[in-house]
Amino acid sequence: MDDTHNGRITKDGIRIHEAADFEGMRIAGKLAAEILDEVIDLIEPGVTTEEIDSQITKRVDAAGATSATIGYRGYQHASCISVNHVVCHGIPGPKVLKNGDILNIDVTVIVDGWYGDSSRMYVAGKLSRKSERLIQVTHDSLMLGIEAAKPGNTFGDIGYAIQSFVEGHRMSVVRDFCGHGLGRVFHAPPNVLHYGRPGQGPVLEEGMFFTIEPMVNLGRPETKILADDWTAVTRDKSLSAQFEHSIGITADGAEIFTLSPAGRFHPTYGE
Ligand code: MF3
Ligand code: CO
Ligand code: CO
Repeated sequence: MDDTHNGRITKDGIRIHEAADFEGMRIAGKLAAEILDEVIDLIEPGVTTEEIDSQITKRVDAAGATSATIGYRGYQHASCISVNHVVCHGIPGPKVLKNGDILNIDVTVIVDGWYGDSSRMYVAGKLSRKSERLIQVTHDSLMLGIEAAKPGNTFGDIGYAIQSFVEGHRMSVVRDFCGHGLGRVFHAPPNVLHYGRPGQGPVLEEGMFFTIEPMVNLGRPETKILADDWTAVTRDKSLSAQFEHSIGITADGAEIFTLSPAGRFHPTYGE
């Protein structure tokens, strides 16, 4: 057995971590969340997404941590920044933010070998009513998914909680990307689907670590990848939003490793 990993693996290939492993995830998750808190003040019309990313790179370095995304499958940045109809994996670049743009910033850091992965929504300037509704529904769908994350429930219960809520608001859940197990690796089993049926899929157990990261579109759920081979956009050009937490299953629920220390996970809080 691989001596850098403790614990056991379920029949579905999901690692069951030990109590001591939670501490590693808390530290990594906290750094990701602090970085996402700190960039709030940078986001305004006129700033470019590469300026935001370069601050994130500096901050990861200053913490003595490692970016999980730099060098990952050829990706070269410390964050993904996905603006408006970009669903995920937007590449930071010379794009200038304009008033009313909404964006997701996704940061994954490695601290002492543990991965902290989180993303949230931001707004440049003034948030429109339509964007605010999308962001609120997406945020709340993640939190409902986390509420369903407890021993004895299944991954299908999580997907169902998210999907039924989102579709109840006449928005759609992206099917082409999912959450993932993580821990001492970036992407591990299972695929955490943001749609599903109650009781389907593997049963949750204490010690599982994974992300939930629903992407929600105002229009249809289909996506396409641009010629840069990374950027995923909505096919119908509708606005898209995403929030992501890294969590660990406890005896009676879930611990969120990437909670915002400043309490500013949602962009309309703390203003
Ligand atoms: N952080 C993303 C996730 O939630 C993965 C980004 S991979 C990258 O899983 F290479 F695009 F950065
Ligand atoms: Co993730
Ligand atoms: Co992420």
